[in-house]
Amino acid sequence: EKGGYEHFMLKEIFEQPKSIHDTLRGRLLVDEGIIKMAGIWDNLERLTKAERIIIIACGTSWHAGLIGEYLIEEFARIPVEVEYASEFRYRNPIVTNKDVVIAISQSGETADTMAAIKLAKEKGAFVFGICNVVDSSISRFTDAGSYTHAGPEIGVASTKAFTSQLTILSLIALKLGKHNGNLSNVEFMRLITELDALPKKVEEVLSTTHDLVKEIAKDFVDAQNFLYLGRGYNFPAALEGALKLKEISYIHAEGYPAAEMKHGPIALIDENMPIVIIAPKQGHYDKVVSNVQEIKARKGKVIALVNKGDVQVANLADYVIEFPETSECFSPIIASVPLQLLAYYIAVKRGANVDQPRNLAKSVTVE
Ligand code: F6R
Repeated sequence: EKGGYEHFMLKEIFEQPKSIHDTLRGRLLVDEGIIKMAGIWDNLERLTKAERIIIIACGTSWHAGLIGEYLIEEFARIPVEVEYASEFRYRNPIVTNKDVVIAISQSGETADTMAAIKLAKEKGAFVFGICNVVDSSISRFTDAGSYTHAGPEIGVASTKAFTSQLTILSLIALKLGKHNGNLSNVEFMRLITELDALPKKVEEVLSTTHDLVKEIAKDFVDAQNFLYLGRGYNFPAALEGALKLKEISYIHAEGYPAAEMKHGPIALIDENMPIVIIAPKQGHYDKVVSNVQEIKARKGKVIALVNKGDVQVANLADYVIEFPETSECFSPIIASVPLQLLAYYIAVKRGANVDQPRNLAKSVTVE
């Protein structure tokens, strides 16, 4: 059932070219230049006229939501807020019938997310669900929605569900942006062509980084802390990279927007601090170069994720992981893959039970 892989998690990491393809299948029609999504189409008016979109989720799905905010605000120009479902439900939030809530949940059973949806509905918001598990409680309770179609995810640490959530959010942002006139045809075509190329690029990053990441992992088996840094779209990708590592390896890890480093975490940096930095060419690259210089001046160990052929960051870094170039907005989908592998191999080498980490459950049905 693990298809020859040692763990479900590794199998699911390797399934991503297919799961992303499945998320796009029947929806992204590049030749016709359209995105076809019934859940969006049937509620187009409601969605494009939303005064505000509130994204609610927990854990990894919340990280996907943060990237969703960047995508929707950039392409559809609708104001977006992202909240932890557990905070939203208890803080008496301001929600009206002009708001659209997008609830993201792999399992579709998360108690806090469900309670937040109930509250939003009571206050008159239209609730759109993004779930992976078909016919799950959340998918049934929401007003409309789109399934991620990533297939069953057995490993407790979410991997392929996350990249499928990012894929769905990309489709939604581009479709809304196209309809409300914020995205030109030319720009829309360029972006959907990039989106269409993602399964191939994810396949490429798996094959070019797997052995390397496995080697790199050996050097960090005894690490006690990790910092993950990224900017723009890759700031939430840094949060997700850190979450993967702590969940399965039990190494303390924190993610930060790279520029926040100097507001605190820089105090932690010395020769014992590994720092993973996501630095694609288009993501405020020059600023990330200065962050890496600041880290090296303090002797931190830099593991850099860069685009193929990168020179500046690569020359400064202790370890270099190259990934294929894409538009900045889609780069977390590719960059997350080597980060999943890094967490996986560090955990495996520490003898941890990666598919069933201690204290964690696949669906959190109690608050
Ligand atoms: C992370 C992880 C959790 C879940 C969170 C939300 O690897 O598995 O953080 O992402 O419990 O779960 P869903 O998406 O099922 O609502």
